[in-house]
Amino acid sequence: MFESLQAMPADAILGLIAEHRDDPRPNKIDLGVGVYRNADGKTPVLDAVKQAEQRVLETQPSKSYIGTAGNPDFNAAMQALTFADAAPDGRLVTLQTPGGSGSLSVAAGLVRRANKSATIWVTEPTWANHVPLLSGAGLALKSFPYYDTATHTIRFDAMMDALHAVPKGDILLMHASCHNPSGLDPSDEQWRAIAEIVVERELLPFFDMAYQGFARNIDDDAFGIRHMAGRVPEMIVSTSCSKNFGLYRDRVGALSIMAADEARLKVVDSQVNNYVRCVYSMPPDHGAEVVSTILNDEELRAGWAIELAEMRDRLQQMRALLGDALQAKAPDYDFSHLQRANGMFCFLGISEDQIRRLKQDFGIYMVNSSRVNVAGITAENVDYLSDAIAAVLDAGDSPEMPSAG
Ligand code: LMR
Repeated sequence: MFESLQAMPADAILGLIAEHRDDPRPNKIDLGVGVYRNADGKTPVLDAVKQAEQRVLETQPSKSYIGTAGNPDFNAAMQALTFADAAPDGRLVTLQTPGGSGSLSVAAGLVRRANKSATIWVTEPTWANHVPLLSGAGLALKSFPYYDTATHTIRFDAMMDALHAVPKGDILLMHASCHNPSGLDPSDEQWRAIAEIVVERELLPFFDMAYQGFARNIDDDAFGIRHMAGRVPEMIVSTSCSKNFGLYRDRVGALSIMAADEARLKVVDSQVNNYVRCVYSMPPDHGAEVVSTILNDEELRAGWAIELAEMRDRLQQMRALLGDALQAKAPDYDFSHLQRANGMFCFLGISEDQIRRLKQDFGIYMVNSSRVNVAGITAENVDYLSDAIAAVLDAGDSPEMPSAG
């Protein structure tokens, strides 16, 4: 049976973890996968998480099954974190899912049950895994312009023109915050304009929010979602706790679905829970119990918000540090765009050949689109990093950017 299968290429993002790990050079730098690192280059467990885990360990009464939708306290807390008072009464359901990717997959499965020929529109570029994940689930994918590789800005006018031409009823997948891979998010005014088109074209908005709290703050980062929730009858929101709670390997996420009315919500709720039962039956509990413990305890929640702000601030500082170093070492090139981005990512804007040389000659790892995770930068490695980038810039071809995320 398995003779018919062909080996798959390594994942564009996850493949870099192993490559970097196996590189023996002591000064190697990992700017690949979207994982936060502190000033020591470590990804520590957050203090709030450690405290909540301790509490769970001491007080959890049972590990019996909960059900397809997971932990109800987690679901309520996540719905409030995402929607606050924009949650419509009786029209919104939230389920715990295995990470943000699990949420996207369940959403895709539900969409396909509702409409086998549904088309989903993604930003150009988008998160590299959006494409195989959603098309693998059987959805047709198309893209609309988002990032201008020449000016390193959002192609807002081109995006609006394209959205005006999207057929009624299609699905629009947007990154609430922060856009992966570009790090550029629409302003509140731009979100309002996008919502107008969504209403006018009767599109189904689908938000992926994997970095809530990494751009401005927890509430402002959800502006696009909250504004849209007041304007449309139906909506899908996938959220992840991988980054903002640092729970990467515990697989904690949520899926919220808004329906036009209470009767339709009941049907959607039964469908989505049935879908989950057919795929993985129930989500893993531990990480969601930890998040629920944090969000439902005033002190733990306040501590977590401080830790999140510290992560956000460090990312901004590292952008500035690299930007300043490049300005000094490669004055003929403009890297001011680094500081316009939010969260972990931005494009460096160098060619695939330059990226390959950074890896081969300097042990510096990033995905082929030149997306860098600025969390990999430290005060200790920024000189080595900026020297290496300046060296590959000097060595040859002019900066250009491939489009895949
Ligand atoms: C990333 O984009 O690097 C992260 O979201 C991790 C992943 O799963 O790709």
